[in-house]
Amino acid sequence: MAAASAMARRAASWPRFLLSRAFAATVGAAASERPPKRVLVPVAAGTEPVEAAATADVLNRAGARVTVATADPAGDHGLLVEAAYGIKLVADGRVADLEGEAFDLIALPGGMPGSANLRDCKVLEKMVKKQAEQGGLYAAICAAPAVTLAHWGLLKGLKATCHPSFMDRFTAEIIPVNSRVVVDRNAVTSQGPATAIEYALALVEQLYGKEKSEEVAGPLYIRPQPGADYVIDEFNPVEWKCSGIPQVLVPVANGSEEMEALNLIDILHRAGANVTVASVEDKLQIATRRHKFNLIADVMIEEAAKREFDLIVMPGGLPGAQKFSSTKELIDLLKKQAESNKAYGAICASPAYVLEPHGLLKGKKAASFSPMAHLLTDQSTCDSRVVVDGNLITSKAPGSATEFALAIVHKLFGREKAVSIAKELIFM
Ligand SMILES: *[C@@H]1O[C@H](CO)[C@@H](O)[C@H](O)[C@H]1NC(C)=O
Ligand SMILES: *[C@@H]1O[C@H](CO)[C@@H](O)[C@H](O)[C@H]1NC(C)=O
Repeated sequence: MAAASAMARRAASWPRFLLSRAFAATVGAAASERPPKRVLVPVAAGTEPVEAAATADVLNRAGARVTVATADPAGDHGLLVEAAYGIKLVADGRVADLEGEAFDLIALPGGMPGSANLRDCKVLEKMVKKQAEQGGLYAAICAAPAVTLAHWGLLKGLKATCHPSFMDRFTAEIIPVNSRVVVDRNAVTSQGPATAIEYALALVEQLYGKEKSEEVAGPLYIRPQPGADYVIDEFNPVEWKCSGIPQVLVPVANGSEEMEALNLIDILHRAGANVTVASVEDKLQIATRRHKFNLIADVMIEEAAKREFDLIVMPGGLPGAQKFSSTKELIDLLKKQAESNKAYGAICASPAYVLEPHGLLKGKKAASFSPMAHLLTDQSTCDSRVVVDGNLITSKAPGSATEFALAIVHKLFGREKAVSIAKELIFM
């Protein structure tokens, strides 16, 4: 700690270009010859967390060095950001401290009032304007193209899109396009949480080329037909019963996949479920897999274990799934859930790493992350994107995380609710 701050003090007296070269050299030497591309994802109170996470996660997979920085005014909460839908994140730093640093991309997540809070950050406004003037790549999704970029005058004369409910805020100089992702010159815009992966892959293509974008897309298992309805492969259909507001437990661990965790929490929250996020680590703050995106859980698993839930559903990601598997409180809860015919589920690595070894897939059909499907006893449905077998629900990968959460909404609240949320997310 002392050494680090001494280095920071010394570094503070260096000219900016020397500083960035020194840092680039450290990181670049380990990875490849060239320094990694730098990406800034600013966040603020009310930011849509699925959009922030998809941008950070996917660009990280491409090899970019992503900085998630808070644009909120400095306050008592340090780097904690109260994102939308009750999700608490911890940023890597503050936008105010990054002025003058060079980024290859600045990408603004949406959400309200998140987009308005980004708009009101003067330092961010200056940075994005400079980025645009210098021909650098900048991007925004959901409410942010209209509320933030258009407000700053940075979409003038360009083709752009945004969430349909904000389209009327586009000024006359902007050419509105009703498309999931729009690239025009150095500005990339997109529509909503369910277009966030497509948007992030378009950003990867702009920075690294088409081949890299396809390489990153592979293990995400993105939807074959964006905009199509969700599909549930259902066996032994039963009604998932709840008395009143559905009580849902989402366990999280260090190394949980952020897009999978945040889609579950966000979408179940939108549907009106009471979502409890429980840490299986030794503290509430956990670090997710890709970005080391820090998430603050609501309770520790020991606390959650005293309660009953209508559904327990796990994100994937390694080593998160392995940690779930070795957490006795969680495994006991899951076994109790299965024995009492209550709903439980898992996505990606978790069916193979948590459910299978504890006998929780016995006699059941399940989906799995394809490269791990050989670990399942019954592999007959492991190519499906979402499988429901009685009270069990499983899914495949980050690219099916939205479908997975919508299928849960369908089972808990009915088709009408699931479709209305799917539309809000620009899933279909
Ligand atoms: C929601 O869950 C919390 C525990 O996480 C519980 O204390 C609270 O009573 C629940 N609220 C409702 C409305 O079910
Ligand atoms: C889990 O991540 C948190 C947040 O980064 C860290 O403080 C904690 O030490 C980690 N726990 C383990 C067991 O690695």
